[in-house]
Amino acid sequence: MAFINWTSAFSVGTPVLDDQHKLLIALINELHATMLQKSTEEELHRIFQELMLYTESHFKCEEGLLRQACYPRLIAHHLQHMEFVDQGRRLYDEQIAGKRTVSMDLLVALKKWWSEHILGTDQQYVAYLSAMSCEAPGGHDSPALSLGG
Ligand SMILES: [Fe+2]
Ligand SMILES: [Fe+2]
Repeated sequence: MAFINWTSAFSVGTPVLDDQHKLLIALINELHATMLQKSTEEELHRIFQELMLYTESHFKCEEGLLRQACYPRLIAHHLQHMEFVDQGRRLYDEQIAGKRTVSMDLLVALKKWWSEHILGTDQQYVAYLSAMSCEAPGGHDSPALSLGG
């Protein structure tokens, strides 16, 4: 059984973001499995770094979509993302310096943060984005777009 199981409760209704969340969960599961196999520190650092890089690209994509939609709670959401990135960078530096390794405590903290973030903070934009997509251009006939005449 995987360390974190994807369920439909995690869905944010936007396929590109769901796919990214699934990949993030897969990377945490890979980190967990690799730790249990007692792999080398280098291998654990590599997966942790991949997780943090992918996290940053996901945050950028998610915030880009929210900015485009003029999401009113974007700043608070962005600050939560930044806090996670700062902590992750600090942990990675400590790992590289040999002060810390990937432990069960770290994995439990990752699982807790991601589950709470996707099920809490991310879910807050679901209804907003879905309402915005109904009003997106193309949903109405616009005389200005007519090329006839
Ligand atoms: Fe988010
Ligand atoms: Fe997200």
